[in-house]
Amino acid sequence: METIDDPYLRHLFDGISTFNVYKEEVTNLSVGAPGPDLLQHCVEMMRKATDHRLNEEKKEGKYYLFQYGITAGLWECREELAKFLTRRYGDPVKRENLILTCGASHGLQLLLNTVVSSNGIIFVEEVTYMIALDAFKQFPLMKVVTVPMKNDMVDLDAFEKIITEERKDSNPLKNEQKIFWAMFYTIPTFHNPTGSTLPPESCKRLVEIARRYSIMIVCDDVYNLLYYGDGFPPHRLFSYDNPTDHNYKGGNVVSNGSFSKIFSPALRFGWIECSSRIAKIFRSSGILLSGGAVNHYVSGVVASLLQLSIQDEHLDKLVHIYKERLTVLCNILDHHLPQCSSYQRPEGGYFVWIHLPSGIDGSEFIKWCQKKYKVSAIPGVRFSYERKYHNFLRLSIGFHRKETIGRAAKILCEAISDYIEKKTGSK
Ligand SMILES: Cc1ncc(COP(=O)(O)O)c(C=O)c1O
Repeated sequence: METIDDPYLRHLFDGISTFNVYKEEVTNLSVGAPGPDLLQHCVEMMRKATDHRLNEEKKEGKYYLFQYGITAGLWECREELAKFLTRRYGDPVKRENLILTCGASHGLQLLLNTVVSSNGIIFVEEVTYMIALDAFKQFPLMKVVTVPMKNDMVDLDAFEKIITEERKDSNPLKNEQKIFWAMFYTIPTFHNPTGSTLPPESCKRLVEIARRYSIMIVCDDVYNLLYYGDGFPPHRLFSYDNPTDHNYKGGNVVSNGSFSKIFSPALRFGWIECSSRIAKIFRSSGILLSGGAVNHYVSGVVASLLQLSIQDEHLDKLVHIYKERLTVLCNILDHHLPQCSSYQRPEGGYFVWIHLPSGIDGSEFIKWCQKKYKVSAIPGVRFSYERKYHNFLRLSIGFHRKETIGRAAKILCEAISDYIEKKTGSK
């Protein structure tokens, strides 16, 4: 009889030695998730918000929070979320453009299931969020096409040529819901893994390309609010697809957001921000109609987190802490990374992308470094659909405190130096 291996595991990274950030033998800079020093605050925040929301339910006496919700997600949660995002982006966000999800991974799945042709094309950057690549494998009729990058960002000249080529051969199955023959999955702000942000001129051009070729751009915007500069974060790509433009085509950009990095991944709460034509499709989607809102109860508690300003205060704290961590990491890299390697200091998010000399294999290096120096990170090849980018590493500031990050970064630089000398005879 077939058996299922079901060991006692406590979290997503448990049981995988290269990712287990909780193990103390190795300092692991792999994981893009908050650590216990940040998550501990969730206890009190959730207690306050839950009490508040449950009291409201009692006062009203209808207990709608325990009923099937509306397909787009709890009205008052979307209202509070729209106000919160408007405050934090410094750009208007409208309630009616929001669809609540169980996080960005779920949002991506919903988009793939609902609005893209089932034999459509998924364009991805040469390096991108590795688990999105895994998610695409669940849509075997769709074709994944990689787009070259220049300076760690999408190369738009190359992209336009590739779209033209792919469109010639495409024969999309469409219906009134699956309105796009292709989508471009991208992380325009504080990219995972490169940390880069698409400049305004490129954002404008990308929107023009999407309109011209009728493709949907799915922006994975999970890091946008973790901005460590002054003022507001860079405008999200969605804001460049302006309905008042003369060549507006009804909305070609979708922003896929999440509370995983700004509150807790376990909440499984996120949103899709989209134009009315796409929102209408979601509102009439069979899955959402059958189940109502996907996370109705949690949305009630999140509405209180937002209404009571608990989320705003927490985000201010997180931004301060992450900014310190990134500064510590980058200052060490500035002083200790061997000259034959390089990186660009990101303005926000979790990740720093190290370029090692060509010919150095990041996977081999990490295995060696983990064993000899007890520090780990993710080799670049893991982010590449075509299994390229061998001489790159991704470091994350998500999990560990600044002291641990500082110590590990120094050791990592020493290890890189040693390894390169061992392999090439020069530093
Ligand atoms: C770019 C990117 N998208 C999505 C996710 C997952 O988001 P969620 O927890 O909201 O599903 C991550 C988590 O690491 C990520 O880095």
